[in-house]
Amino acid sequence: MKVSVVGTGYVGLVTGACLAEAGNDVVCMDVDADKIAALERGEVPIYEPGLEPLVAENVAAGRLRFTTDMDTCVDHGLFQFIAVGTPPDEDGSADLRYVLDVARGIGARMDDYRVIIDKSTVPVGTADKVRSAVGEELAARGQDLEYDVVSNPEFLKEGAAVEDFMKPDRVILGCDNVRTGALLRELYAPFNRNHERVITMDVRSAEMTKYAANAMLATKISFMNEVANLCERVGADVEMVRQGIGSDPRIGFSFIYPGAGFGGSCFPKDVAALERTARDHGYTARMLQAVEAVNAEQKTVLERKIVARYGEDLTGKTFALWGLAFKPNTDDMREAPARRLMEGLWARGATVRAHDPEAMDECRRIYGERADLTLVDDRYTALEGADALVLVTEWKPFRSPDFDHIAATLRDPVIFDGRNIYDPAVLAPHGLAHVAIGRPQTTAGEG
Ligand code: UDX
Repeated sequence: MKVSVVGTGYVGLVTGACLAEAGNDVVCMDVDADKIAALERGEVPIYEPGLEPLVAENVAAGRLRFTTDMDTCVDHGLFQFIAVGTPPDEDGSADLRYVLDVARGIGARMDDYRVIIDKSTVPVGTADKVRSAVGEELAARGQDLEYDVVSNPEFLKEGAAVEDFMKPDRVILGCDNVRTGALLRELYAPFNRNHERVITMDVRSAEMTKYAANAMLATKISFMNEVANLCERVGADVEMVRQGIGSDPRIGFSFIYPGAGFGGSCFPKDVAALERTARDHGYTARMLQAVEAVNAEQKTVLERKIVARYGEDLTGKTFALWGLAFKPNTDDMREAPARRLMEGLWARGATVRAHDPEAMDECRRIYGERADLTLVDDRYTALEGADALVLVTEWKPFRSPDFDHIAATLRDPVIFDGRNIYDPAVLAPHGLAHVAIGRPQTTAGEG
C-alpha cells in the first residue's frame, strides 16, 4: 500500500520506517531540508534503539524514501499521515498551526481519494478542523473529491518506539465510516500478532483515548510521588509500600515508581492540554491540576534535599550529575528533571559536572558553554572534585557502579538517588550515605 508521512520527528519517522518494514511503499516528507538530506544519507537525527538499521534497510530495499516536496508526498500515498509537532501554547493548549498547515497542503494538492490520518497528539475536535481545512482548499480549487479524516493516536514510548509500533498493545482508530476502517485495518494487519489489536471507534473517542491514557499514567506517577513525600514524613519506606500495593493486580507494578517528577514530550504537554480542553468546555479538571502541581513540586525535590544537607547557599559546591535525559534510552531532555535541578543548583551558586550516555550533545545545545557546567565523557570523571553525586536518570550503566571508587572520590560520600535505584544496605558498607525519594535516609556505615 502507498503511504505518505508528513513530519519526520519521533512519531513520523518511526511510523514511516515500521510501515515500510511491513512491506508498504512509504514516502516521508519534512520541510527541514537538512534533516531530509541526513536521512537520505542514512543518518537518523534522534537516538532511538533499532531505528537507524530499520531506516537503512528499508531505504536500501526501496520501500522508504524521503522528500521535502509536498507535491510528491500528496501525490504518493493513499494514506496521508500527519505527524507534525503540536507544541503547547503559552496557555497549555496544543498549537494546531502545523497540523492545519499540512491539512491545507493536502487539500490544495490532492487529485484523488485520500485517507488523512492524524497521528500527532491533538485535542478532541481536531479531526473536524482538519476535515474543514482540507474541504476549504478543495472548494477553493472548485474540486469535489472524496476524502476521509481518521484519528490514529500513537502510544510509542521513547526508547522503545520501534518495538511499540511493531508489537502494539492496541491500535486506536477513530473513523466515521466503514470503508476507511477496513482500509486501515488492512494497513495495520501485519502488526496484529495472535489477535486483532485494532480498536475502532468514533473520531472524538479516539482523540480522547490518547489524552486519557497519558493523563492516567501521569496521575499514577504524581500519586506515587505524593505517597513518597508522605512516607518521608511518617517514617515509612516508599519502596516497601510500592511493592506492597503493586502486588494487587488491580493496581499493578507499572508507573508507580516515585522519582524527581515526570518529564518528556508527552505527559507534561498532554496533561496541560487536557486540562485546557476541560476549561474550554466549562469544566475544572481538579485531578489534572493536582497531577501538574505535584509534578512541578517534585521536580524541586532533589534540590531541596541538597539544600537540607548543605544549606541554602551552595556557592563553591560542586555536584556530579548522572543522567540528563528525561529517562533512559533517549537523548531527549524536554521537561527533564535534570534541567530543573541544574538550574536550581546554578541559581544557588553551585557548579555541575554531568554525564549522560546519550544526551550530552542535547545538553550543550540547550545550555551552551557555561562556567558552572562541565560535561564529561565518563561517569567517574564527573565525580572528580565533586562534593556529592546526584543520580537523576536510571541508565543501566549507573545501576551497579564501583561504589568504593565513588566513596573515595567524593568530598562528602553521599548519593542523592533521584530514582531509588540503589539499595542503602549495599551502599553503607562502602562508606556511602544514601538520600533517596520517600525512603529513610541512611548514613555511611549503617546497614
Ligand atoms: C509516554 C507514554 O508512555 C507513551 O505511551 C506516549 O505515547 C508518550 O508518552 P514517554 O514520554 O516516552 O512515553 O516516556 P515514559 O516511559 O512513559 O516516561 C515518562 C516519564 O515518567 C519519565 O520522565 C519517567 O521517568 C517518568 N516515570 C515513569 C516515573 O517517574 N515513574 C514511573 O513509574 C514511570
